[in-house]
Amino acid sequence: MKLKIKIALVSVLFVSTVKAQKTDVAKAFSSAAKQTDLLVKNVDSARKVKPNLVSPRTVENGQFKMVISKDWTSGFFPAELWYFYQYTKDKKWLNLAKKYTEDIKKEQFNRGTHDLGFMIYCPFGNGYKMTKDTAYRSVIIQAAKSLSTRFNKTAGVLKSWDHNGDKWKYPVIIDNMMNLELLFEATKFTGDSSFYKIATAHADNTIKNHFRPDFSSYHVIDYDTAQNGHILQKITAQGYANESAWARGQAWALYGYTMCFRETKNKLYLAQADGIANFILSSKITPADGIPYWDYNDPQIPNVSRDASAAAITASALYELAGYSKEGKKYKAAADKILYSLSTKYTSKPGANYGFILEHSTGHRPAKSEVDVPINYADYYFLEALLRSKK
Ligand code: GLY
Repeated sequence: MKLKIKIALVSVLFVSTVKAQKTDVAKAFSSAAKQTDLLVKNVDSARKVKPNLVSPRTVENGQFKMVISKDWTSGFFPAELWYFYQYTKDKKWLNLAKKYTEDIKKEQFNRGTHDLGFMIYCPFGNGYKMTKDTAYRSVIIQAAKSLSTRFNKTAGVLKSWDHNGDKWKYPVIIDNMMNLELLFEATKFTGDSSFYKIATAHADNTIKNHFRPDFSSYHVIDYDTAQNGHILQKITAQGYANESAWARGQAWALYGYTMCFRETKNKLYLAQADGIANFILSSKITPADGIPYWDYNDPQIPNVSRDASAAAITASALYELAGYSKEGKKYKAAADKILYSLSTKYTSKPGANYGFILEHSTGHRPAKSEVDVPINYADYYFLEALLRSKK
């Protein structure tokens, strides 16, 4: 065979291999559904013993861990059930989604956390989109009212945490960006622009204060609300060091500003999302499969855990951002690669991990908690990325 023909053949083969790296969404959903059938059984068994436990969170040291409704991750399990219903249109998932969503309802009145977006908007927002049940809309509005009580006009941001008052005064974490979607939705439902104004003030001040010149984000910014809202400290709680880039924090930032652009069409948010995407995608530290280590700056890399949850959040965000940005093709290709890796190398073996879908996430490594484990928010954003990959 002539050399030119050989090269042409190799190129065709290479291209087809690259094309073959596309995730088989139907197969991924079908495997995920089988796992989730098992997860539901395990949830029901655990609740027979302790009825106040509502949602599965993780598996640690071989133990199945459930949480009460005020845990920040309580909404992901019912929200996953809504995604199964969205994909399959099977009433079985509708009934399960409705049943487990009810268990989180009382958190609409919770004023003690910024996480109401995760806890309430993920299940009730998806529930409302799929059923138009006005009862779900009321829960979202009440939750937005509760979250709004955490806004401080002097600093112009929502307070994230009430705990560990000895470590900080008015902590705002980058994760908080995710909870703004609840506020945007409440303005759409009510016509009351105060929710929207709080969300955009928080997003604007987070751009000013949370980011380094390379668009990587600090985890925690501590504000002094007693004086003029100036910054007391820029630190980490879940990352490797104050000046490091904690992987999930970067993913929350990317998703948060992509969502803020969708809701406002403010080009500043699009530019921020593009900058964060560039930080994540140009990393020379992240291995070729696109799944980041838990922190970009851990000196023990490569001998540290990855964070599949950060990868799943990033993939989902990139699919959306691809529709807004000039870099759309690049983002879609990167999201495809991450999704393919997750669905082929990071899924639980059938019947393993009590029914969680993915493994290899890192929750809180400095606290030696949830290191290299399955975790509910990784599964939720993985399903969302699968759905978005089809659009
Ligand atoms: N929002 C908490 C976390 O990402 O671990």
